Amino acid sequence: MVMTRFTQYLEDKVTQSKILFSGLLRCYMKVIKNEAELAGIDKDDHVLFIGGGAAPCSAIAMQKLTGAKVTVIDNDRDCIRKSKALAKKMNFSKDMIKIKHMEGEFVDAGDYSVIHLALQVSPKEKVLDRVYKTMKPNTRVLVRHPKESRKCFYDVNLRKRCSECSMVEHKNFTNIQATAMYL
Ligand SMILES: C[S@@+](CC[C@H](N)C(=O)[O-])C[C@H]1O[C@@H](n2cnc3c(N)ncnc32)[C@H](O)[C@@H]1O
Repeated sequence: MVMTRFTQYLEDKVTQSKILFSGLLRCYMKVIKNEAELAGIDKDDHVLFIGGGAAPCSAIAMQKLTGAKVTVIDNDRDCIRKSKALAKKMNFSKDMIKIKHMEGEFVDAGDYSVIHLALQVSPKEKVLDRVYKTMKPNTRVLVRHPKESRKCFYDVNLRKRCSECSMVEHKNFTNIQATAMYL
Protein backbone atom coordinates (compact mmCIF):
# COMPACT_ATOMS: atom_id res chain seq x y z
CA MET A 1 0.00 0.00 0.00
CA VAL A 2 1.21 3.53 -0.80
CA MET A 3 0.85 4.82 2.77
CA THR A 4 2.83 1.89 4.18
CA ARG A 5 5.72 2.56 1.75
CA PHE A 6 5.56 6.28 2.54
CA THR A 7 5.62 5.65 6.31
CA GLN A 8 8.50 3.20 5.94
CA TYR A 9 10.43 5.81 3.95
CA LEU A 10 9.75 8.54 6.53
CA GLU A 11 10.68 6.29 9.46
CA ASP A 12 13.92 5.37 7.74
CA LYS A 13 14.83 9.06 7.38
CA VAL A 14 13.70 9.92 10.91
CA THR A 15 15.89 7.24 12.49
CA GLN A 16 18.93 8.91 10.93
CA SER A 17 18.38 12.04 13.07
CA LYS A 18 18.49 11.87 16.88
CA ILE A 19 16.26 14.96 17.23
CA LEU A 20 13.62 13.79 14.74
CA PHE A 21 13.59 10.31 16.25
CA SER A 22 13.08 11.54 19.81
CA GLY A 23 10.26 13.81 18.55
CA LEU A 24 8.56 10.86 16.83
CA LEU A 25 9.04 8.69 19.92
CA ARG A 26 7.48 11.37 22.15
CA CYS A 27 4.48 11.48 19.87
CA TYR A 28 4.06 7.68 20.05
CA MET A 29 4.53 7.79 23.85
CA LYS A 30 1.22 9.67 24.18
CA VAL A 31 -0.61 7.17 21.98
CA ILE A 32 0.93 4.20 23.78
CA LYS A 33 0.12 5.67 27.22
CA ASN A 34 -3.56 5.76 26.21
CA GLU A 35 -3.40 2.24 24.77
CA ALA A 36 -1.59 0.81 27.81
CA GLU A 37 -4.25 2.30 30.08
CA LEU A 38 -7.06 1.01 27.86
CA ALA A 39 -5.71 -2.55 27.95
CA GLY A 40 -4.23 -2.41 31.49
CA ILE A 41 -0.79 -3.42 30.23
CA ASP A 42 1.99 -3.92 32.79
CA LYS A 43 5.38 -5.62 33.22
CA ASP A 44 3.79 -9.09 33.39
CA ASP A 45 2.41 -8.81 29.87
CA HIS A 46 3.97 -10.04 26.65
CA VAL A 47 2.89 -7.76 23.82
CA LEU A 48 3.06 -8.72 20.13
CA PHE A 49 3.30 -5.78 17.72
CA ILE A 50 2.28 -6.70 14.19
CA GLY A 51 3.87 -4.22 11.75
CA GLY A 52 6.76 -2.57 13.59
CA GLY A 53 8.39 -0.85 10.63
CA ALA A 54 11.96 0.45 10.42
CA ALA A 55 11.45 2.54 13.57
CA PRO A 56 9.32 0.45 15.96
CA CYS A 57 8.40 3.47 18.09
CA SER A 58 5.20 1.91 19.46
CA ALA A 59 7.09 -1.16 20.67
CA ILE A 60 9.89 0.95 22.15
CA ALA A 61 7.41 3.28 23.87
CA MET A 62 5.43 0.32 25.24
CA GLN A 63 8.55 -1.33 26.66
CA LYS A 64 9.75 1.91 28.24
CA LEU A 65 6.36 2.90 29.70
CA THR A 66 5.13 -0.46 31.02
CA GLY A 67 8.20 -2.72 31.33
CA ALA A 68 6.27 -5.39 29.38
CA LYS A 69 8.15 -7.89 27.23
CA VAL A 70 7.64 -6.96 23.59
CA THR A 71 7.90 -8.95 20.36
CA VAL A 72 7.75 -7.14 17.03
CA ILE A 73 7.07 -8.70 13.63
CA ASP A 74 7.13 -7.18 10.17
CA ASN A 75 6.87 -8.74 6.72
CA ASP A 76 9.52 -6.42 5.24
CA ARG A 77 13.09 -7.75 5.63
CA ASP A 78 14.65 -4.32 5.18
CA CYS A 79 12.52 -2.90 8.04
CA ILE A 80 13.53 -5.83 10.24
CA ARG A 81 17.22 -5.23 9.59
CA LYS A 82 16.89 -1.51 10.40
CA SER A 83 14.71 -1.97 13.47
CA LYS A 84 17.08 -4.62 14.89
CA ALA A 85 19.98 -2.19 14.44
CA LEU A 86 17.99 0.56 16.17
CA ALA A 87 17.02 -1.65 19.14
CA LYS A 88 20.67 -2.69 19.54
CA LYS A 89 21.81 0.95 19.39
CA MET A 90 19.26 1.79 22.09
CA ASN A 91 20.57 -1.07 24.28
CA PHE A 92 17.35 -3.10 24.38
CA SER A 93 18.12 -6.72 25.23
CA LYS A 94 16.21 -9.53 23.48
CA ASP A 95 14.32 -10.10 26.75
CA MET A 96 12.92 -6.59 26.40
CA ILE A 97 12.31 -6.33 22.64
CA LYS A 98 12.53 -9.24 20.22
CA ILE A 99 12.21 -8.49 16.48
CA LYS A 100 11.46 -11.06 13.79
CA HIS A 101 10.54 -11.28 10.14
CA MET A 102 7.05 -12.74 9.76
CA GLU A 103 3.73 -12.26 7.97
CA GLY A 104 0.91 -11.30 10.33
CA GLU A 105 -1.29 -13.82 8.50
CA PHE A 106 0.90 -16.70 9.77
CA VAL A 107 1.52 -15.58 13.34
CA ASP A 108 0.96 -17.85 16.34
CA ALA A 109 -0.69 -15.54 18.86
CA GLY A 110 -0.73 -18.17 21.63
CA ASP A 111 2.38 -16.86 23.43
CA TYR A 112 1.10 -13.33 24.00
CA SER A 113 -1.28 -11.59 26.40
CA VAL A 114 -1.74 -8.52 24.17
CA ILE A 115 -1.77 -8.28 20.36
CA HIS A 116 -1.29 -4.88 18.74
CA LEU A 117 -1.98 -4.10 15.07
CA ALA A 118 -0.30 -1.10 13.40
CA LEU A 119 -2.46 1.22 11.33
CA GLN A 120 -0.75 0.07 8.12
CA VAL A 121 -1.26 -3.68 8.59
CA SER A 122 -2.88 -5.32 5.60
CA PRO A 123 -4.94 -7.47 5.02
CA LYS A 124 -6.30 -6.65 8.50
CA GLU A 125 -9.23 -9.06 8.49
CA LYS A 126 -6.98 -11.98 7.48
CA VAL A 127 -4.43 -11.09 10.17
CA LEU A 128 -7.18 -10.74 12.78
CA ASP A 129 -8.75 -14.06 11.78
CA ARG A 130 -5.37 -15.72 12.34
CA VAL A 131 -4.90 -13.94 15.67
CA TYR A 132 -8.32 -15.06 16.91
CA LYS A 133 -7.71 -18.64 15.75
CA THR A 134 -4.42 -18.97 17.66
CA MET A 135 -4.66 -16.70 20.71
CA LYS A 136 -5.40 -17.79 24.29
CA PRO A 137 -8.71 -16.79 25.93
CA ASN A 138 -8.67 -13.28 27.49
CA THR A 139 -5.93 -12.01 25.18
CA ARG A 140 -6.44 -8.29 24.57
CA VAL A 141 -6.37 -7.22 20.92
CA LEU A 142 -5.61 -3.58 20.12
CA VAL A 143 -6.37 -2.23 16.64
CA ARG A 144 -5.65 1.33 15.51
CA HIS A 145 -8.14 3.25 13.42
CA PRO A 146 -7.24 6.11 11.06
CA LYS A 147 -8.60 9.63 11.11
CA GLU A 148 -11.73 10.01 8.97
CA SER A 149 -9.95 12.11 6.33
CA ARG A 150 -7.12 9.51 5.92
CA LYS A 151 -9.30 6.40 5.74
CA CYS A 152 -8.73 5.98 2.01
CA PHE A 153 -5.04 5.26 2.66
CA TYR A 154 -5.56 2.27 4.95
CA ASP A 155 -7.12 -1.15 5.09
CA VAL A 156 -10.25 -0.42 7.15
CA ASN A 157 -12.97 -0.46 8.52
CA LEU A 158 -13.07 -2.78 11.46
CA ARG A 159 -15.57 -0.84 13.50
CA LYS A 160 -18.09 -3.53 12.58
CA ARG A 161 -16.14 -5.84 14.91
CA CYS A 162 -16.52 -3.21 17.54
CA SER A 163 -20.03 -3.78 18.85
CA GLU A 164 -18.53 -4.88 22.17
CA CYS A 165 -15.21 -3.09 22.30
CA SER A 166 -13.66 -0.25 24.27
CA MET A 167 -12.07 2.64 22.42
CA VAL A 168 -9.63 5.39 23.24
CA GLU A 169 -9.40 8.52 21.07
CA HIS A 170 -5.98 10.10 20.51
CA LYS A 171 -5.19 13.76 20.10
CA ASN A 172 -2.01 13.97 18.04
CA PHE A 173 -0.73 14.83 14.62
CA THR A 174 -0.31 11.23 13.42
CA ASN A 175 -2.95 9.57 11.24
CA ILE A 176 -4.23 7.58 14.23
CA GLN A 177 -7.69 8.65 15.38
CA ALA A 178 -8.40 5.95 17.95
CA THR A 179 -7.50 2.51 19.21
CA ALA A 180 -10.10 -0.18 19.77
CA MET A 181 -9.67 -3.06 22.20
CA TYR A 182 -11.42 -6.25 21.11
CA LEU A 183 -11.83 -9.07 23.59
C1 LIG B 1 5.49 1.65 8.67
S1 LIG B 1 5.16 0.66 10.10
C2 LIG B 1 4.37 1.77 11.17
C3 LIG B 1 4.38 1.36 12.62
C4 LIG B 1 5.05 2.35 13.52
N1 LIG B 1 6.47 2.34 13.30
C5 LIG B 1 4.79 2.06 14.98
O1 LIG B 1 5.73 1.89 15.72
O2 LIG B 1 3.61 2.01 15.36
C6 LIG B 1 3.92 -0.48 9.55
C7 LIG B 1 4.56 -1.77 9.08
O3 LIG B 1 3.55 -2.77 8.97
C8 LIG B 1 4.09 -3.77 8.14
N2 LIG B 1 3.01 -4.67 7.72
C9 LIG B 1 1.93 -4.36 6.97
N3 LIG B 1 1.14 -5.44 6.81
C10 LIG B 1 1.76 -6.47 7.47
C11 LIG B 1 1.46 -7.84 7.65
N4 LIG B 1 0.37 -8.39 7.11
N5 LIG B 1 2.30 -8.61 8.39
C12 LIG B 1 3.43 -8.05 8.94
N6 LIG B 1 3.78 -6.76 8.78
C13 LIG B 1 2.96 -5.97 8.06
C14 LIG B 1 4.74 -2.99 6.99
O4 LIG B 1 5.79 -3.73 6.39
C15 LIG B 1 5.24 -1.72 7.72
O5 LIG B 1 6.65 -1.75 7.89
